[in-house]
Amino acid sequence: MTEPYDLLIRGGTAVLPWGMEETNIGVRDGRIAALGVPATAAAAQVIDAAGLHVLPGLIDPHVHLRDPGDASVETIPTGTKAALLGGLAAVFDMPNTAPSITDAPRLAWKQDYAARESYCDIGLYVGGTKTNIAELAALELGAGVCAIKIFAGSSTGDLMVEDDEHLELVMRSGRRRIAYHSEDEYRLQARKGMFKRGEPYARHMEWRDEECAFLGTRRLMALAQATGRPAHILHVSTAEELAYLKDFRDIATCEVLLNHLTQIAPEAYETLGGYAVMNPPIRGRRHYEAAWAAIADGTVDTVGSDHAPHSRAKKELPWPDCAAGLTGVQTLVPVMLDHVNAGRLSLPRLVDLMCAGPARVYGALGKGRLAAGYDADFTLVDMQRRRRIEESWIVSPCGWTPFAGMQVTGWPVGVILRGTMAMREDEVLGPPRGRLVRFRG
Ligand code: DOR
Ligand code: ZN
Repeated sequence: MTEPYDLLIRGGTAVLPWGMEETNIGVRDGRIAALGVPATAAAAQVIDAAGLHVLPGLIDPHVHLRDPGDASVETIPTGTKAALLGGLAAVFDMPNTAPSITDAPRLAWKQDYAARESYCDIGLYVGGTKTNIAELAALELGAGVCAIKIFAGSSTGDLMVEDDEHLELVMRSGRRRIAYHSEDEYRLQARKGMFKRGEPYARHMEWRDEECAFLGTRRLMALAQATGRPAHILHVSTAEELAYLKDFRDIATCEVLLNHLTQIAPEAYETLGGYAVMNPPIRGRRHYEAAWAAIADGTVDTVGSDHAPHSRAKKELPWPDCAAGLTGVQTLVPVMLDHVNAGRLSLPRLVDLMCAGPARVYGALGKGRLAAGYDADFTLVDMQRRRRIEESWIVSPCGWTPFAGMQVTGWPVGVILRGTMAMREDEVLGPPRGRLVRFRG
């Protein structure tokens, strides 16, 4: 007779690392105690998952929760509630806040605040600058720190390390994987004068053209190889980079964003205007198809939202004054499930990209697999549920989504966080119980 479980998840189809299986899962003390448990096993709580898929808790490894910064668009409490409602068990939050997270006191503040106020589990990036290089080796080992983030090209905020000399110094300080925003700053600046204020929003992808991104990635790969420092290229947006990165699998991993897998230029700019503007830009069909091919052939390690809230007023300014960045933490899982139903990827590949991949790339401990001993984090999914994404459902204070009106099939109906139901059917349950994710040192 087995000891009673705290929780039994019964009758669902579990997405295990080795395939999909209908199985009952026993949870004890916040961790997965056993798979293949008898349906009649004693448990304090039973969740009937018949007809649902049971996924390991999904992770969005790329969000900007703007905290500290602008509470009128997002905060850690609102953004992590949005994450739960959208079917995520953890988010990794970017450091380009105001002020940015670039030193020990600011990191200490954020560790303490996030551990108290986050509704889902959370990892924290630390920003690399030209003046904190000597501190990075210590900062990257801080509690909850998933990686150092380097903006090699300018975007929202003032973080930037654009020259090879400082990039190399950053790579030689510390040893964990560094996550890069890869666009060549010199080319961005040189091209800016080619365009006039008030031109169509689609100019965004001409200004920040393919070569801006590809040149940035070539420079970073040369430096990563020379220094031996592992690199993670965030939001890869061109066919050229995806082909090129296949030759750097010993040193580099990469991310593709939901927006680049869903939106295509020029239509996106025509229908969404400033609400299509992000860095790196939404590009044409050739790049969209290359992104899906790179999902299919395994080039891509992670998929994120790059959730980047801005006020409607800033998004509606004429180009290029409009703020760059699109919201997405609440819509990432629903839209990806729709892509599964449309046959663009399998559910096991989705779990690989949105759970195992982030855990592997960033070295998250106890996350990434639905297996005995791992954290009892689950995303419960109804693959048949049809629903329209409504702006009224969005809980981020900025209030908008580029996916408003989209009809999707497949919906996250629950999130279990270390054995406790934290979201069920559009309702966040209980107080903030997120914790800092632990990472390999
Ligand atoms: O479009 C973007 N928005 N790209 C980035 O790199 C930053 C982000 C933001 O923070 O707004
Ligand atoms: Zn970002």
